[in-house]
Amino acid sequence: MTTSRLFGTPLSPSATKVMLLGSGELGKEVIISLQRLGVEVIAVDRYPNAPGHQVAHRAHVIDMTDGAALSALIALEKPDLVVPEIEAIATETLLALEQAGQITCIPTARAAMLTMNREGIRRLAAEELGLPTSPYRFASSLEELQQACAHVGFPCVVKPVMSSSGKGQSKLDSAADVAAAWDYAASGSRVDAGRVIAEGFIDFDYEITLLTVRSVGADGQVETGFCEPIGHKQVQGDYVESWQPHPMDPVALDRARDIAAKVTADLGGCGVFGVELFVKGEMVWFSEVSPRPHDTGMVTMASQVQSEFELHAKAILGLPVNVALRAPGASAVIYGQHDATGIAFEGVADALRVPGTDLRLFGKPESFERRRMGVALATAGDVDTARQRALEAASRVKPVVR
Ligand SMILES: Nc1ncnc2c1ncn2[C@@H]1O[C@H](COP(=O)(O)OP(=O)(O)OP(=O)(O)O)[C@@H](O)[C@H]1O
Ligand SMILES: [Mg+2]
Repeated sequence: MTTSRLFGTPLSPSATKVMLLGSGELGKEVIISLQRLGVEVIAVDRYPNAPGHQVAHRAHVIDMTDGAALSALIALEKPDLVVPEIEAIATETLLALEQAGQITCIPTARAAMLTMNREGIRRLAAEELGLPTSPYRFASSLEELQQACAHVGFPCVVKPVMSSSGKGQSKLDSAADVAAAWDYAASGSRVDAGRVIAEGFIDFDYEITLLTVRSVGADGQVETGFCEPIGHKQVQGDYVESWQPHPMDPVALDRARDIAAKVTADLGGCGVFGVELFVKGEMVWFSEVSPRPHDTGMVTMASQVQSEFELHAKAILGLPVNVALRAPGASAVIYGQHDATGIAFEGVADALRVPGTDLRLFGKPESFERRRMGVALATAGDVDTARQRALEAASRVKPVVR
């Protein structure tokens, strides 16, 4: 047996303290899992009453891209672990604090830094690790983008290097589309409005998220576990539906696990990673990776013995994990449908009358038409039935303005 960390009493000097940087719906579930183990949780977000704020011991509102504000808060709270839940964080500050031995960042500060920028993770995956990816080029001006698109060929996809949920992303069919894609990318970028990636379009059969968990085994060594593949449907670069397991050709599954093992081993540390892959027959391409639970993985709250959030909480605390499937399952997103604060939801009881279903309403204070406000979950004897159930339950929940 290994010596492992002591689990203290929250709000006392013995407390094990974890700080979540980002406290949305994914962070909220990680926090609930941590709370169940008696961990003291500090939830941080950029706006008050974020979902995770509502279930943490303490809540803070700061601009997490502001390095000075971030290090001041860390100095105040002195967490045992710092857990980034979003990409838009001053990761160079996390790296400096980690190098100075002042924090332990999950999974590592380097992983947070590399994955917040498409250039960092793509160059690592393709150029250092030699993993198969779409052809790509980076560009910092319209002229460079024209050359980049010509190089990767059409159709192609243009994305700001720092963006998520499909923001600023467009598919181009010919050189005539490049100027519009450049302008659109600038509008959707999070930080550096001037840099984009052009990627050759992969005509995949399907795409999956392979949740990969690095945790400490009984011998004290880090071991890598794989959840069953999660299939998902994206609309405008945002996930609307996911299901597990997604059936895969055995050769493709082996390749997928090999890619996931390599990229997560390089990023290091412990925790859940969401490895996004494109699959066509036996061919597999690496797309990107989140060094944290993945939105498409919300399905695991229904389909797995331990959800991706519980897996993350346990793995980061050095505890053993179980990646087993419980039952075929599905998730379907519930959008706000209104731009308003303090919306309400009708039809919740009707939704839960669909057999095998459950629901999460995130409690976000402000709704937007296309903001994810909740998710319907379902299990069944097979994935198709689970998907129908999740979609039916989601459609019965009706956001209304009060
Ligand atoms: N090169 C490509 N070829 C084909 N489809 C692509 C390509 N790149 C992206 N897509 C499609 O667009 C979706 C979103 O792309 P990507 O994951 O890179 O963006 P994102 O903004 O990081 O999204 P998220 O944060 O939701 O994961 C992918 O899941 C896939 O469906
Ligand atoms: Mg993605």
